[in-house]
Amino acid sequence: MEKTHQNWIDLTNRVALVTGAASGIGRAAAEAIAATGAKTVLLDRDEAGLRLVAQEIAAQNGHAIARGLDVTSEHDWQDLSEWIDGEFGRVDILVGCAGIARFDRVGPDIFESYREVFSVNVDGILHGMSMALGFMRKAGKGAIVNVASTAALKGNPAMASYGASKAAVVHFTRSAALETNRAGLDIRINAVLPGFTETGMAQQVYDQFDEKLGGREATLSVFASGRPALPSEIADLILYLVSDRASFISGSAINIDRAQSA
Ligand SMILES: NC(=O)c1ccc[n+]([C@@H]2O[C@H](COP(=O)([O-])OP(=O)(O)OC[C@H]3O[C@@H](n4cnc5c(N)ncnc54)[C@H](O)[C@@H]3O)[C@@H](O)[C@H]2O)c1
Repeated sequence: MEKTHQNWIDLTNRVALVTGAASGIGRAAAEAIAATGAKTVLLDRDEAGLRLVAQEIAAQNGHAIARGLDVTSEHDWQDLSEWIDGEFGRVDILVGCAGIARFDRVGPDIFESYREVFSVNVDGILHGMSMALGFMRKAGKGAIVNVASTAALKGNPAMASYGASKAAVVHFTRSAALETNRAGLDIRINAVLPGFTETGMAQQVYDQFDEKLGGREATLSVFASGRPALPSEIADLILYLVSDRASFISGSAINIDRAQSA
């Protein structure tokens, strides 16, 4: 049969969880995953945003269920785990995308923002992986993609905690991938490292820097390589990585930034 884009990736009947699904990259990833057939559970603390995304997916004949969840809350993850167990009994795919950015620098004032950023960006990823791996280990298979950032790759004087949190995400991703692979399980775990992407988080950067740097073009020349990515461009890589097409990719941290960090 001819390979069309439509049947090249088929996630029919897979159960996929996507955190941060109410906006930006998480939303685009959830839409792409639902469009290829998965039963997609949309997770975010922004419940109103989630409902809109679920409606849009349903309007395209996709299968999406919205569930409010704070990724930092062990209690919320426990509730979700019990609900998943009753509803589906399995988790095939997890995309850990919920995240926050704060502007801070190393010094005595950093601790509040450091704890906040690490609690969402790192604890959130660890809770998600722990829950999903519980189901995946029983099934012997699964795919996880954690959304890190190119901020993981270099020091970041304006967002020190953010960069450090994303470096931690990459490291935990690699450790978990090694562990599942050594255990002989077909569970693939990867990280994607987007460059500057046009989302609500990008707006925070514009708000902080446009005036200081002399306008939007100047901000983009510092933070992006030519132009910001579209959320759908990042979602395409996530979709590929959670699909069987990426069957030999695990423990990888893949930059997607149009040569910005090359
Ligand atoms: N936009 C960029 O330039 C860029 C670049 C690299 C990496 N990233 C990463 O991509 C991911 C998505 O960010 P985005 O750019 O789409 O931003 P966004 O602000 O549009 O989306 C982030 C989502 O995470 C949710 N969220 C935040 N804290 C949460 C919590 N405690 N529990 C549940 N949900 C929570 C928000 O409600 C929001 O829907 C983040 O991890 C971010 O660090 C973004």
